[in-house]
Amino acid sequence: MLRICFVCLGNICRSPTAHGVMERMVEKAGLGGVISVDSAGTAAYHIGELPDPGTRAAARRRGLDLTHCARKFERADLDRFDVVLAMDQQNLAHLQRLAGARTAPQIALFRSFDPTAPAGAEVPDPWGGDDRGFDEVLDQCERACAGLLADLRRRLRDPP
Ligand code: 4NP
Repeated sequence: MLRICFVCLGNICRSPTAHGVMERMVEKAGLGGVISVDSAGTAAYHIGELPDPGTRAAARRRGLDLTHCARKFERADLDRFDVVLAMDQQNLAHLQRLAGARTAPQIALFRSFDPTAPAGAEVPDPWGGDDRGFDEVLDQCERACAGLLADLRRRLRDPP
């Protein structure tokens, strides 16, 4: 099983979007039994909440129902996942501090899996913005998830 976790700040906008997009892609690919998907936030502000209304509405426009309840990424999560993907540089730095000298899990910027994104690209925080911001997050998540799925397929085919 390859265990993936998406991480943003609040776990109510960007990472639950990536979570929902990836889960649907994995299911469509028939890989639900070998790839698991989760998400979490580096901050505790919104623990237990459903995704932000703007995030849920944007996802619904693409046929996706986001039902994940926000949770905080804990140190113990480093043992629960193989790949932990940060939405921006701040989340990445937080995860790297938490991991210290550990070599696993793999911690990376989510958009580094999108071959069309520039190096260091982030998923900008859409919280408090308009519909365009939420739609843009979905576009970025769909591209990066497609790249991520291709990468995971290669790992499943040729284990290290
Ligand atoms: P997210 O967006 O990190 O994509 O879930 C945010 C949600 C809430 C806050 C910041 C970003 N906040 O400051 O409460």
